[in-house]
Amino acid sequence: MKTRITELLDIKYPIFQGGMAWVADGDLAAAVSKAGGLGIIGGGNAPKEVVKANIDKIKAVTDRPFGVNIMLLSPFADDIVDLVIEEGVKVVTTGAGNPGKYMERFHDAGITVIPVVPSVALARRMEKLGADAVIAEGMEAGGHIGKLTTMTLVRQVVDAVNIPVIGAGGVADGRGAAAVFMLGAEAIQVGTRFVVAKESNAHQKFKNKILKAKDIDTVVSASIVGHPVRAIKNKLSSAYANAEKEFLRGEKSQEDIEELGAGALRNAVVDGDVDNGSVMAGQIAGFVTQEETCEDILKDLYYGAAEIIKTEAERWADVEK
Ligand SMILES: Cc1cc2nc3c(=O)[nH]c(=O)nc-3n(C[C@H](O)[C@H](O)[C@H](O)COP(=O)(O)O)c2cc1C
Repeated sequence: MKTRITELLDIKYPIFQGGMAWVADGDLAAAVSKAGGLGIIGGGNAPKEVVKANIDKIKAVTDRPFGVNIMLLSPFADDIVDLVIEEGVKVVTTGAGNPGKYMERFHDAGITVIPVVPSVALARRMEKLGADAVIAEGMEAGGHIGKLTTMTLVRQVVDAVNIPVIGAGGVADGRGAAAVFMLGAEAIQVGTRFVVAKESNAHQKFKNKILKAKDIDTVVSASIVGHPVRAIKNKLSSAYANAEKEFLRGEKSQEDIEELGAGALRNAVVDGDVDNGSVMAGQIAGFVTQEETCEDILKDLYYGAAEIIKTEAERWADVEK
């Protein structure tokens, strides 16, 4: 099965492991790339040396392509741009901003640039700026999100641009993957299911929160001010909800609310503080119940999609207009 994305990136499976801050390190990304998907290091707010150490880890394990996610709001964004060019990284995904000012340098270095977009307008703008593909990420996803669902966003972005679209948000098995391919995506990006991969170094308490979550256990915080973020309900999300009420009454500032998020993902992923930290995860967490290897996850997504697409094709084969 080939798509423009598998051809462009030379990967076997049309599956990206989302570049998740603190979670997607060199070990996780290496395991995904080695097994035939696209592993992506989450640059997050990490300084150059940290991202470089993760790149070194992947290079030590596999020659397969991998990516780096650059969080454009990071104070180290400029350094990470220099780093991916120096290191000959093949693919960059970008979040939280507009990568326009770096586009020429990326392309001169032969880097494939794939911004994450939450809307049709942004997808069009990225195409005009020269992006090679876009990741349309629905609000079912874990982490920082936009307003549209995967179902509505992927469909509309596929219609609006000519570059390939990767669909993200809410995919954790072959059926979900098949659905996103049916909407016109040429690859999928998966985050939440990879957080609990055997090769993921996320704290066991963080993984357990996902493994035990039910369908309705995530909430979106900071949607009134700041950057909306989806995570599993806990003391932090209650604190956000209270702070937002106080903000509406004029008793708290935007900075007070933003302050709640500072360091919160790290506290949960690295230290295992799943009560007061941010347990970012998508709505599909309720369906993620097992720790498996990245290879098994990729195979389940890919062969599961193939099976369901073939079964459905048979069911529809005799329908004629
Ligand atoms: C813990 C966590 C951290 C994330 N951090 C980032 C990030 O730093 N940059 C980014 O572009 N996306 C980030 N994401 C989003 C993922 O890359 C991916 O697009 C998303 O998880 C897909 O939806 P799913 O969670 O339903 O699989 C994060 C997601 C999670 C669960």
